Amino acid sequence: MQVIHSIAELRRTLARQNQTVFVPTMGNLHEGHLSLVREAKRWGGPVVASVFVNRLQFLPHEDFDRYPRTLARDVELLTGAGCNFVFAPDEAELYPEPQVYKVAPPPALADILEGEFRPGFFNGVCTVVLKLFQCVQPAVAVFGQKDYQQLKVITEMARQFALPVEVVGAPTVRADDGLALSSRNGYLGETERAEAIALPQALRVLADRARETATTLTALEQEAMQALAARGWAPDYLTLRRRSDLLPPTEEQRLGHEPLVALGAARLGTTRLIDNIEC
Ligand code: PAF
Repeated sequence: MQVIHSIAELRRTLARQNQTVFVPTMGNLHEGHLSLVREAKRWGGPVVASVFVNRLQFLPHEDFDRYPRTLARDVELLTGAGCNFVFAPDEAELYPEPQVYKVAPPPALADILEGEFRPGFFNGVCTVVLKLFQCVQPAVAVFGQKDYQQLKVITEMARQFALPVEVVGAPTVRADDGLALSSRNGYLGETERAEAIALPQALRVLADRARETATTLTALEQEAMQALAARGWAPDYLTLRRRSDLLPPTEEQRLGHEPLVALGAARLGTTRLIDNIEC
């Protein structure tokens, strides 16, 4: 596997490759990322992963500085997973000057849920993903369904800008107890790690009760939030949305056959976890 740090070398190298399949990451890789590489390999072309911690998608109080940078280990893991190229630019390479041109995804999709609690997050994500797409020029790009809203926002960006890339979602990988794998799980202490499964469990309950007629959706969501809060969590949201546009379903849709998704984000101690379950 070849590790490339500059855009110029990446372009020279990939010019000889056909139909690359791209897996963008921020490094600190775990089994969830490796499953994206395995999904990428199913598409047949050479697999390019990127490792870049993107400052633009962190708020000033968030964990940009303490986000683990583990490139040597990431390279080993990617090699083992059969990845062909790693693009690992430093900040000066990807952002040699302040990135003043930015992608502004539509507020109706990007300022809700994660975007409500992390203002500007999806501007930062879309900007770096568009730039990485320009560098790699992949035919296919694979993103995890764990970041459900991110996958939606990027799929729509690619569609609206007619980007010549197929955006593909890959299923969430979970630990044996059901916790979705995430780089941020590493921040959890032992007791917190044991408690962390309460988030997917609360989403499961919300998803299972989604089609009940006896309770309103607002009441179901409030119960879910209160149940987590009672266990010491600080929930940002636990909510049921339409898969199509991540807006709340009408009562008719909720009680009918509309494809829905239960999405949640909550802080356990200082660690913020997100998860989702389709229903
Ligand atoms: O999902 C992530 O790890 C990041 O948001 C991404 C897509 C690599 C952009 O920095």
